[in-house]
Amino acid sequence: MSRRTTIGLDIGSGAVRAAELSFGSAGVVLERCATAPLPASAVRDGEVVDTAAVSAALVELWRSGRFSHRRVTVGIANPRVVVREVEMPHMPAADLKKALPFQVQDVLPMPVDAAVLDFHPLEVRGTGPGAVVRGLLVAAWRDTVLPLVSAVHGAKLLPEAVDLTAFAVLRAVGSGTGADAGTEAIVDIGSTVTQVVVHSGGAPHFVRILLCGGDDITGALAERAGLSTAEAERLKRELDTGEVVDPSAADAVRSASQTLLDEVRSTIDYATATSGHRPDRVVLTGGGARQGGLDLQLSAMTGLPVEVGSLTHRIQPGRRLGNEHPDSATMAVGLALGAAS
Ligand SMILES: Nc1ncnc2c1ncn2[C@@H]1O[C@H](COP(=O)(O)OP(=O)(O)O)[C@@H](O)[C@H]1O
Ligand SMILES: [Mg+2]
Repeated sequence: MSRRTTIGLDIGSGAVRAAELSFGSAGVVLERCATAPLPASAVRDGEVVDTAAVSAALVELWRSGRFSHRRVTVGIANPRVVVREVEMPHMPAADLKKALPFQVQDVLPMPVDAAVLDFHPLEVRGTGPGAVVRGLLVAAWRDTVLPLVSAVHGAKLLPEAVDLTAFAVLRAVGSGTGADAGTEAIVDIGSTVTQVVVHSGGAPHFVRILLCGGDDITGALAERAGLSTAEAERLKRELDTGEVVDPSAADAVRSASQTLLDEVRSTIDYATATSGHRPDRVVLTGGGARQGGLDLQLSAMTGLPVEVGSLTHRIQPGRRLGNEHPDSATMAVGLALGAAS
């Protein structure tokens, strides 16, 4: 491959995934994507706790994925990452970067020395010396970023950037641009972490990372139905394939999902109250989005149309892609898209 390609690396709780994109006259092509499983204790609450185990999974990922280089944009998502709307004096980007720690230290929930900071400008207000730029401040505890980066280094990969996976998902599946795009809530349901992003036409208003996910549904189902975790996981996934004919099984899965969906709904309500933007639809991504009937259940609870996000309107599958389904790489694709911009 002689063209320039970018690679996004998504370190989830259950698996690591990477996606390589090329950018040609025919559009954006997903050249390769791959997944490698992670042992259960390697990533906890969205944070890398066993760097050696994550490095080993990444070595396996690069062996099986046959990516064309080793430079990656890595995603981060854990509830200790804080995203907040702030206003900064309007200044050139390089000055803004330098001024950021001083400007935001009072609103940070952590000492400024302990934070890795990023700023995503959204809009400039006013003109002249009084002009301000409104944007999203991203503040991550340094001690959550360092193990992530060292796990990547441990697999002899080169982390060129660390990006919030919530922004990546927005890039990958967020719909609509322009004034009439409306407002959308994107909900990514992973194993143990769920992310909610509210945006209008690609501009994010609100990001929240919740410490709950599809594994909590499995856990609740196992407890209520007296099943092992593996049996509950199997039952949950059977809904997706339509194999389940027993309506009581579908009911059990629905009630096991209630707590997670309640939290998603109240997060959307909170986002509406604080940002002033009420979503008119919801898009689901992540492994949890594949749960049969979850979209209808959330729709009934929120009164909003809910659909499962798809990459296909933005990305074309490449010829070498094999049988990996592109939608399983949504987050990695979004990270790779960010590396290209
Ligand atoms: N077909 C399916 N039906 C229901 N749940 C599923 C299905 N496939 C995956 N999941 C759930 O999705 C979660 C994993 O999502 P994923 O985005 O892969 O997680 P992570 O990014 O944390 O590695 C698990 O909780 C799993 O039970
Ligand atoms: Mg995920």
